Amino acid sequence: MPTARFTAAQISLTRRLRGMPFTTAPGPSAARSSWIEPTGIVVSGVSRSFGSVLAVLDATLTVPAGSVTALIGPNGSGKTTLLLMLATLLTPDAGIIRINGFDPATEPERVRALMGWMPDTLGSWPSLSARAALQTTGRMYRMTREQAAVRADELIRLTDLTDFADRPSRVLSRGQKQRLSLARALVHSPSVLLLDEPASGLDPAARAALRQLLRRLGGDGTAILVSSHVLAELDEMADAAVYLAAGRTASPEQVAAAGASARAWRIRSLDETALDRALAAPGVLGALVMVLGVDKLGTLVQVENEASAAALLHNLVLSGVPVCDFGPAVGNLEHTFLDLTRSTIIDSEARE
Ligand SMILES: Nc1ncnc2c1ncn2[C@@H]1O[C@H](COP(=O)(O)OP(=O)(O)O)[C@@H](O)[C@H]1O
Ligand SMILES: [Mg+2]
Repeated sequence: MPTARFTAAQISLTRRLRGMPFTTAPGPSAARSSWIEPTGIVVSGVSRSFGSVLAVLDATLTVPAGSVTALIGPNGSGKTTLLLMLATLLTPDAGIIRINGFDPATEPERVRALMGWMPDTLGSWPSLSARAALQTTGRMYRMTREQAAVRADELIRLTDLTDFADRPSRVLSRGQKQRLSLARALVHSPSVLLLDEPASGLDPAARAALRQLLRRLGGDGTAILVSSHVLAELDEMADAAVYLAAGRTASPEQVAAAGASARAWRIRSLDETALDRALAAPGVLGALVMVLGVDKLGTLVQVENEASAAALLHNLVLSGVPVCDFGPAVGNLEHTFLDLTRSTIIDSEARE
């Protein structure tokens, strides 16, 4: 087991971060300290380039044990590169990575023994059945033949592969391959789990099952880092989020500012005419609200903050509008993601 190498102040910082929704990156000063948490994932000031391409630049994040953290970023922002470094498959150019206290670059066997890795594509073994692939994976983790068979059965049930377990994996659909890939990552009951775009290719029922499974594993104490561009899925699944833009992790300050920025809310009324009339009446909207338009799901308004949304709802109800739906048009993660992506584009344009 790794020895504890942290101070009381560092523990307190960790506790505070644990209680903090939707941000996990400590500030720049913490990133450069020697703070190393003995459980879960710690990434501090990590960079990696491919020739002249800076794929990951000074990335900093933590995933405590028992947390599901979303890794969010547009295509090419460095998510897979970062996950490959955590998974012992790529060496960082700079920075510190610890998985339960171990360094993937210098202690890869120890990291692989405790970490499950689900890549964004299912590799190898097309002629093996799902069951055989899981049993073979179990044998690689030094299970006996019997243990590997029992574990394969458990995972086939857990990932709902029973009907396909004895077919060659090459004939499985993309979603079924994704589930097999997840099952393979779980063979040795890892305490740290890395998933690269696990929801892509899954139908809505399989996504819901994935969400439940990850929540349960998180509840059992697993540290989970999951990348995805399906932000609505992550919203319900993740305790925290790390945003990557052009290889850099957004600071807590940037995330807080983006989360608090004006956002679209959607209103539906049983009587649309009454809603339109009320929105046009003086004093109902308030100074911080603006009507954006109507889409097929309802009327969109731009709302500066939650207090102005509450005031608007109050005014609409007082005006006799039968409001049946009132809420943010996009989830928290998507809103923050869009705002951060927008500010990254504006920053890079300003630099040009
Ligand atoms: N092996 C590689 N060689 C050269 N460039 C790479 C390699 N892997 C990734 N990149 C580049 O690094 C950047 C980040 O890629 P990636 O980590 O795959 O992003 P994401 O997973 O967020 O889509 C991209 O510009 C990509 O083209
Ligand atoms: Mg990727």
